[in-house]
Amino acid sequence: MEQHSNNTMHNYKFEVPEIIFGRGMLSQVGSCARRLGGKKIFLVSDKGLFRAGWVDQAMRSLLEAGLEFVYYDNITPNPKDYEVELGVQEYLRQGADVIVGLGGGSSMDAAKAIAILASNGGRILDFEGPDRIVRPLPPLVLCPTTCGTGSDVSQFAIINDSQRRCKITIMSRCVAPDISLTDPDTLATLPEEFVGTTATDALSHALEAFFSVASTTLTDVHAIKALRLLTKSLAAAVHERKPEDLENLARASLHAGMAFSNSLLGIVHALAHPIGGLYDANHGSINAILLPEVIRYDIPVVTEKLQELAWGFGHRSNNDIIAAGDKIQETLDSLLEASGAPRSLRSIGVLRKDLPELARRALKDVCIVTAPREADEDDLLRILERSY
Ligand SMILES: [Fe+2]
Repeated sequence: MEQHSNNTMHNYKFEVPEIIFGRGMLSQVGSCARRLGGKKIFLVSDKGLFRAGWVDQAMRSLLEAGLEFVYYDNITPNPKDYEVELGVQEYLRQGADVIVGLGGGSSMDAAKAIAILASNGGRILDFEGPDRIVRPLPPLVLCPTTCGTGSDVSQFAIINDSQRRCKITIMSRCVAPDISLTDPDTLATLPEEFVGTTATDALSHALEAFFSVASTTLTDVHAIKALRLLTKSLAAAVHERKPEDLENLARASLHAGMAFSNSLLGIVHALAHPIGGLYDANHGSINAILLPEVIRYDIPVVTEKLQELAWGFGHRSNNDIIAAGDKIQETLDSLLEASGAPRSLRSIGVLRKDLPELARRALKDVCIVTAPREADEDDLLRILERSY
């Protein structure tokens, strides 16, 4: 059994943006943009949030801060390369100077990609991989309105290559925003299925960050906090939608985002990116499907962390590693069940004939590098087949 070297590194750095969190805080987006030097703000969001009234609130805040703005919503889920390239043309044509991304991962990743092109030029696919960005980005404020993505604190932007139908990962400290602003009130209008499937994205971030070979004591603290919040509030948030439970999910997303941005991820995300690219499928749903099999694959090489993880899931420690592993899988299963997320690749339209190609693509994804247990193409294919 091949184990990637080193777990919980001793030399490390930990980076996060300025963080503003609290109910009603969307009203502060204007003052955030102004203190970053903005005069004309490029506001990236989506039509669903416009209908829910949150875009209107953000616009009002920008106006109250004495700022002009341009609104851009030509973005689809799993944002495409051409959408962000049209976006930057508009940004430059309008002479905007600060970018605000309001929405889920798609709006925020699109805002990041537009910011990259605004100062670096070229095509967005040129920036695939780690540290390809040369010039600093225009100031960026990101406001998440789902409970999973973590894009508002992360050093990643995920964009869909529309020709190859695969997702590319752009990774650079430059793409972490200047300010992450979370207003948990925005979750009140998030449809039930997205509460569940974005929470399962946060769940996968926390678990993969905790098991990552680049995990540190700082990332572990945030990963475990995210898991405790998810264990406490995921089911209630999906079914009862009480503001305090939704707020706990927003906080879990933030903690999981800080963890994975600094420790990176693993096999779930390495597989989820090619699946999402090929099928344009919901990211959190794919993660929910893959998590049980990937965690089962990882557990034999992370035994020294299982007691702490079991505690994160709300179990008392009793020094029994096998029991801890069993409890982790049971709790994970009940959280996934409560989320309402789909449980098989077949159910989201993945074709069995594509599995070998998906395994091949996952081997090239940057997330595979920090997985705790090495995996070759056959291992990945087995995980896909068991998740089918
Ligand atoms: Fe994710």
